[in-house]
Amino acid sequence: MSLTERPRRLRTSQAMRNLVAETTVVPSQLILPTFIKEGLAEPKPVKGLPGVFQQTRESLLAQVDEAIAAGLGGIMLFGIPANRDEQGTESCNPNGVLNQAVAAVRERAGDKLVVVADLCLDEFTSHGHCGVLDGRGRVDNDATLALYARMAVELAKAGAHMLGASGMMDGQVQVVREALDAAGFTDVSVLAYSAKYASAFYGPFRDAVESELEGDRRTYQQDPRNFTESMREVRLDVEQGADIVMVKPALSYLDVIRETAQSVDVPVAAYIVSGEMAMIELAAEHGLIERERAILEAVASVRRAGANVICTYWALELAQMFYARKTL
Ligand code: PBG
Repeated sequence: MSLTERPRRLRTSQAMRNLVAETTVVPSQLILPTFIKEGLAEPKPVKGLPGVFQQTRESLLAQVDEAIAAGLGGIMLFGIPANRDEQGTESCNPNGVLNQAVAAVRERAGDKLVVVADLCLDEFTSHGHCGVLDGRGRVDNDATLALYARMAVELAKAGAHMLGASGMMDGQVQVVREALDAAGFTDVSVLAYSAKYASAFYGPFRDAVESELEGDRRTYQQDPRNFTESMREVRLDVEQGADIVMVKPALSYLDVIRETAQSVDVPVAAYIVSGEMAMIELAAEHGLIERERAILEAVASVRRAGANVICTYWALELAQMFYARKTL
């Protein structure tokens, strides 16, 4: 055959493949989500997510040290309070589990790691919704915003560098930005969960935070069938001052990541969620797929789609792989 082009020539060795690889993942682009539970005596494994635990304050700080040593970009904190109520009161308590954890983590990490705090009510409400309910049991957007504003200021006071606005209330980025600025926290950044879908892939996470949600979040999180709606959500969040916009979940929404990356001038993040991780872990456990290769392929796909920042429970392990292989 006389062929001018033989694409296979660039696949002849590992060195050649590394040389021409279009996608790289480095530890500084990764954020490790983690859970701290109030009153826990020792770390407790989360079902379906090997290596993921509900942490005690002590084990959380050990994880912070590991994250710094591994060169991770950030750590993202979710708190599980001992007491929940209708209004999610503990979210705004400076002595509450999340605010205290943020303070401890920030003290330990200084500026060596970006400390991200989840800004949402779902871990704090007895009904498990991301906002407060009105008289008819519906999630009340604007009443919730007032609480997000207060929670944002408390988290900033505790020392968070960045707030993950994950509740999918309309106007949340604007309200949080205004509250932070008014309190003098102009440097605290907002990671907007802009395109967050009502996904079945959050299953293991709901166990991890012991969610008491009945029903679903379809009146505020997005319908998985929609794409254009995400572009609208992203546009609104950028207009409202989002510093980073996020797409979540990641693996089933690579098209959304791609288009978002092409249409905004802020960094784009994506969250490989609990159920996406569990699918790979369980398939690997059953010998159906090669675990490491599958993880690397999944993470590469998210980067390839255009995410500069990736939230993943595999962050520490990925960093170890990176140092062992000198590439990801
Ligand atoms: C809600 C929140 C969720 C996740 C992160 N923040 C789930 C939900 O909407 O119930 C899911 C993360 C995961 O599945 O890994 N504040």
